[in-house]
Amino acid sequence: MTRKKILILNCIGLLIILLFLAFYNGLIVRKYIINSNKLAVGELVRIVLVTDLHSHIYGNNQTKIVSLIIKQHPDIIALVGDIADDKVPIEGTKRFLAGIKGLAPIYYVTGNHEFWSNDIVNIKDIIRKYDVTILENSYEQIKIKNASIVISGVDDPDVVKYEKPEFDLQREMHYTFSELRDKPGFKILLAHRPEFIEIYKECSFDLVLSGHSHGGQVRIPFILNGLWAPNQGWFPKYTGGEYKYDSLTHIVSRGVSYNPRLPRVFNPPEVVVIDIKGSTSR
Ligand SMILES: [Fe+2]
Repeated sequence: MTRKKILILNCIGLLIILLFLAFYNGLIVRKYIINSNKLAVGELVRIVLVTDLHSHIYGNNQTKIVSLIIKQHPDIIALVGDIADDKVPIEGTKRFLAGIKGLAPIYYVTGNHEFWSNDIVNIKDIIRKYDVTILENSYEQIKIKNASIVISGVDDPDVVKYEKPEFDLQREMHYTFSELRDKPGFKILLAHRPEFIEIYKECSFDLVLSGHSHGGQVRIPFILNGLWAPNQGWFPKYTGGEYKYDSLTHIVSRGVSYNPRLPRVFNPPEVVVIDIKGSTSR
């Protein structure tokens, strides 16, 4: 074989590998570690974050996504909106919730698509049937092992068009969460929309978890962290990954959405696992 033929074959092989990686759409697990002085050394709280399911069904009866979550042994499951959809039947959401019910405390906040369904009251009733706590501009103080956790959640701003016409995100955040400033514990906010981080930053959270941007749909590793995202437009800033601000960490999941008409490029659907590790000696 001539050198030229070997080179051509190598290029074709490389191209096939690149195309496979670019359009790989199998579920992956993406992990983050956060060290916190609000937990003691040796303490660990594991959050599994799922967002933007849009009622898609992964495997027979949601077994693919459910078994992947079971393997992570979560202490908390956070569902950060658009779990149900305005067009896809809710059956996928029901099967998903049935699969994860009882694995760990489950917390949910709304996304825009759940409001767009015009059936939000019914969707929330269904979600509650699976022992999920819906956080609607509210918080709970909980203990996970010995760690004190405050878990909070805010409505998607599209609530203004359907349930609460008077809703104003910034005012609501200040009204509900300003009292958290003096409370002990590691403080988490679930908020579907990542682009409102400047508002979330005004409250005293240690960790904010978001979705909504679907990873910017098209990515080029190390070059482009997303081409387009809803409500952020072209070349969006908050598409996926870990964003650090002083003592606050913002994790934006690329979500588990799957739409054959909108291919994800270098952007496989992801279940996110966050380990909060203690760093304080007691
Ligand atoms: Fe969304």
